[in-house]
Amino acid sequence: MTNTYVGSIDQGTTGTRFIAFDHSGQIVANAYERHEQIYPEPGWVEHDPVEIWENTQAVVERGLREADIDAEQLEALGITNQRETTVVWDADSGRPVHNALVWQDRRTTDRVEELESAEKVEWIREKTGLEADAYFSATKTEWLLDNAEPLKMQRSRDDDLRSRAEAGELMVGTIDAWLIYNLTGEHVTDVTNASRTMLYNIHELSWDDDLLAEFDVPAAMLPEVRPSSDETLYGHTDPDGFLGAEVPVAGALGDQQAALFGQTCFDEGDAKNTYGTGSFYLMNTGTEAVDSDHGLLTTVGFQLSGEPVQYALEGSIFITGAAIEWLEDVDLINNAAQTAELARSVDSTDGVYMVPAFTGLGAPHWDGRARGTIVGMTRGTRKEHIVRATLESIAFQTRDVAEAMEADSGIETTSLRVDGGAVKNSFLCQLQSDVLQIEIARPQVDETTALGAAYAAGLAVGYWGSVDELRDNWQIDREFSPEMARATADRRYGRWGDAVERSLDWARE
Ligand code: G3P
Repeated sequence: MTNTYVGSIDQGTTGTRFIAFDHSGQIVANAYERHEQIYPEPGWVEHDPVEIWENTQAVVERGLREADIDAEQLEALGITNQRETTVVWDADSGRPVHNALVWQDRRTTDRVEELESAEKVEWIREKTGLEADAYFSATKTEWLLDNAEPLKMQRSRDDDLRSRAEAGELMVGTIDAWLIYNLTGEHVTDVTNASRTMLYNIHELSWDDDLLAEFDVPAAMLPEVRPSSDETLYGHTDPDGFLGAEVPVAGALGDQQAALFGQTCFDEGDAKNTYGTGSFYLMNTGTEAVDSDHGLLTTVGFQLSGEPVQYALEGSIFITGAAIEWLEDVDLINNAAQTAELARSVDSTDGVYMVPAFTGLGAPHWDGRARGTIVGMTRGTRKEHIVRATLESIAFQTRDVAEAMEADSGIETTSLRVDGGAVKNSFLCQLQSDVLQIEIARPQVDETTALGAAYAAGLAVGYWGSVDELRDNWQIDREFSPEMARATADRRYGRWGDAVERSLDWARE
């Protein structure tokens, strides 16, 4: 009998990956392509949605070809994606009206401050579970409808984008919706991605009319919201399209929720932290949406077909892996792998603290005007100290959100599952265990984001029978236990807090 697999497209901030998994959750095909980061002005970040779609096709084709797998052997496709990043496109031609505004883009910070002045922050939080911030899709969509250049589209000059959107001629979506539309022709999104738009009511589970009115977003342009694992299927790939096969597209989750699912955090209290461009610490809170009093987000964790939504608390840290990239940009290191060796070559940072608030600070501070800071340098400070301080900043930021998580949920975390590119660095995992003073568990398959989307799609088509089968697939690679004394960890964490204070509000003119 021919082997069959489930394919997963992981469309992230820096690139697009295709992975095919077998029934035991092992990787059988893997291909990756980076895309351009476009910075038109300081604080603005854009991606070209057409490049993203072309790269998606390329990695799926290459991944299958190199592994000698036929598209017909894919029982389903799942999608996972950088969240919040927003695309508006023409329903007729399928062409984007503008580049995508990326989640890191801060151009709508003024608009968020207007919401703060109008005392709408609490109102937004009650409906969406989110902290009013330029991070989410609402102000990005509003900006696109106000500013996208008319020249990219075949239309008359006096025909504004909003009236075209009202007439159903324009569509908006996060990257999952953009890919699903290109793969299947259907305009749908999953509930986890919808929960990141700041337009979706996470309690009523519907687009929120009041928020649509606030941000002047016509309802006609929004995708239909579906469960993350959908037995009714989002659609099929076009047999005459690039794949040459009719594969059901059956699962989608925002990448952080996908990692939660891939780490099999199916039960209340289960938590994971993913180390990518930023880091995202999510805890499953079951069918209850837990409000945060400590700067976390309340968000949708996942939804299986015919089952209630499971919620999560999230600590979104904007810059962690990107701080390592910055070390490379300024020539302090040649590649990320070098950081462990350099950091290990000194006993401590010698009192240096680095706060990588390059795009403001997310959870739990939510300060769009915070900026990167290095404090405590002396004439004796060497690059090794700065490299070590940068790795420590990843661990300290995680402790900031872990403390908030415990305070909000009342659940004491004793072990944390980790994933993402940076966890290959055992020095970082050990540091994380020291700073948090808990066990850190690194799984064998560290591509848990792609795995989560594959699981969602595979469950929908019956490739996997139940979540219990998925639990059995989770295997530990290595566990890290605290080696640093608690008093030392607490003292250093206290100094970290002082450094953060110095970075807050820096960009206020
Ligand atoms: O919320 C943003 C997050 O989804 C981005 O994740 O892994 O693409 O940096 P990543």
